[in-house]
Amino acid sequence: MTIDELKNNLLGIPHTSAEDGEILHNFLMDLKPSKILELGFDHGVSTCWMALAAQKLEFEIDSIDRPDALNSKPDIYQNLTKNGLEKFVNVIISERTYIWELRNLISKNSTNGVCKPIYDFCFIDGAHTWETDGFAFFLVEKLLKPGGWILFDDINWTIAESKSLAQFDWVKDMPKEEKNTPHVKEILELLVSQHPNFDNFRIQGKWAWVKKTSNSKLNSINFEKVYKKPSIKNAFLNFLYAIKKNLI
Ligand SMILES: C[S@@+](CC[C@H](N)C(=O)[O-])C[C@H]1O[C@@H](n2cnc3c(N)ncnc32)[C@H](O)[C@@H]1O
Repeated sequence: MTIDELKNNLLGIPHTSAEDGEILHNFLMDLKPSKILELGFDHGVSTCWMALAAQKLEFEIDSIDRPDALNSKPDIYQNLTKNGLEKFVNVIISERTYIWELRNLISKNSTNGVCKPIYDFCFIDGAHTWETDGFAFFLVEKLLKPGGWILFDDINWTIAESKSLAQFDWVKDMPKEEKNTPHVKEILELLVSQHPNFDNFRIQGKWAWVKKTSNSKLNSINFEKVYKKPSIKNAFLNFLYAIKKNLI
């Protein structure tokens, strides 16, 4: 499976764009992790992009969502299987919330009151709310190896702008300030950047990359390479492809 083949196969499926997917893939190719975690997969588009790197480097992905995500068409299993990437991903269905699955992972990896970190990277792209992802950050920190990275998506997103959430009573009853404040940005400013174990931050568009402190120089990332622009030839081929698919 090549980058261009995956782009074509995922065309039009929400949520991660082809451009962001390639960046995610490039990041992992540079990081060379052994095990990574994703919170929130929905159709599994970002999962497929990460699994493309896993196919080349042979690392393992745990990805968690709720049962509802399997109603998304095509679902994560269909997308992974279509692209031959299913063997790199453990799809974990949490009955209510990944917060409880994180509890299970911490419990499973704890001995004599100490949790052994197991992940080199975590993509947090689920609830985007203060109480869920603020807590998820502290739980993921316990499972993240020194030098490991977290990527937060949608740092400027607000609950007020969500059409799909507007129908719920918990949103209708929410104070205006909470609705209009980007929760992930608050998590970054008030929790992550004040945390003693995080020392490296990079905000790029709607994404925030944060690194857990380590004495080793390992796991430093060449972001120039990760964010490289496509070659003129590839940009032209993408343009032709978009015309063919009536996207332009
Ligand atoms: C934006 S979508 C994920 C998109 C995916 N990462 C991608 O880019 O292709 C967010 C997902 O998070 C899931 N989610 C939100 N809150 C959750 C929670 N507390 N526990 C489990 N899953 C949750 C939703 O069910 C939804 O499928």
